[in-house]
Amino acid sequence: MSRQEAAPDAVVFERKGASDGQSGATMHVHWLEQTFAEVSPDTDWLCPAERAQLEAMRIAKRREDWRLGRWTAKHAVAAHLDLPLLPSALAAIEIRPAASGAPDVFIDDRAALVSVSLTHRDGRAVCAIAPAGTRLGCDLEVVEPRCRAFVADYFTPAEQELVARVPGAERLGVLALLWSAKESTLKALREGLRLDPRSVEVNLGEDAVAALAVNRSRVPSSPVEVWHKLSTRFQQQLFYGWRQCDDEFVLTMVSAPESTQPVRMRMVSHLANPPA
Ligand SMILES: CC(C)(COP(=O)(O)OP(=O)(O)OC[C@H]1O[C@@H](n2cnc3c(N)ncnc32)[C@H](O)[C@@H]1OP(=O)(O)O)[C@@H](O)C(=O)NCCC(=O)NCCS
Repeated sequence: MSRQEAAPDAVVFERKGASDGQSGATMHVHWLEQTFAEVSPDTDWLCPAERAQLEAMRIAKRREDWRLGRWTAKHAVAAHLDLPLLPSALAAIEIRPAASGAPDVFIDDRAALVSVSLTHRDGRAVCAIAPAGTRLGCDLEVVEPRCRAFVADYFTPAEQELVARVPGAERLGVLALLWSAKESTLKALREGLRLDPRSVEVNLGEDAVAALAVNRSRVPSSPVEVWHKLSTRFQQQLFYGWRQCDDEFVLTMVSAPESTQPVRMRMVSHLANPPA
């Protein structure tokens, strides 16, 4: 666990680590989740270019999602690089979209030595962060009904066969999981949905159907992090992944090279830890 010195009205972070002990991977992916309630209503933590970007957005939902994503990513970057968690320091961090839409990180207009991936859905955002050069993607999906064409249009024959084998009660979770792992991979490729989702194949492991009965492994208030492995492939490129899910949400992360089990960063309110 690492803690930063608390500044007035600031927050400190703790990192709940977990080495998976199985893969032999040594690269770590950290991740931070934030909700709407945690985002400052001010804009002093955005850089001028970001403020201009925000002002140009006409749709309220898009503005709110974007703010939440930027808030989460900036805090993840600051915590990762041990920067102060103050508005001025956050404003020096820019999450700049590349032409593809993929997020790049700049600090004081210089490329920062980190890779990030962002996802936001239904008032929650997740930012995954890893050393520069890591191919990284994360995706949060809601477990919800999908139309019949969804499976045929977006899933490979092997994935469709898996879906057909899954008992009805687990099926929506499996669909969300497969889709999330595909989107994570499309983000790690920095292409997004400009690629055909069927060009990415998701492998949930040797005993996938049994493994899928592990719903409710993602309990936001619990300090215990339960992750399960997966892998994905795009052409000859292999990505190593992790998944966690509950009844409502699925979260996946993929990387190349392989990472240990993702390490959650939690924001701990300064007020919750008053100085002695
Ligand atoms: C990436 C994509 C698959 C994510 O879709 P989603 O599940 O609806 O949304 P999520 O909340 O999970 O992810 C959104 C984030 O993905 C990231 N993202 C967008 N495009 C990305 C790309 N090509 N590669 C990696 N990450 C990307 C962004 O950080 C985005 O958040 P932001 O716009 O607030 O910065 C989809 O938005 C997409 O394919 N976008 C790119 C396609 C495109 O036409 N881009 C045009 C240039 S902007």
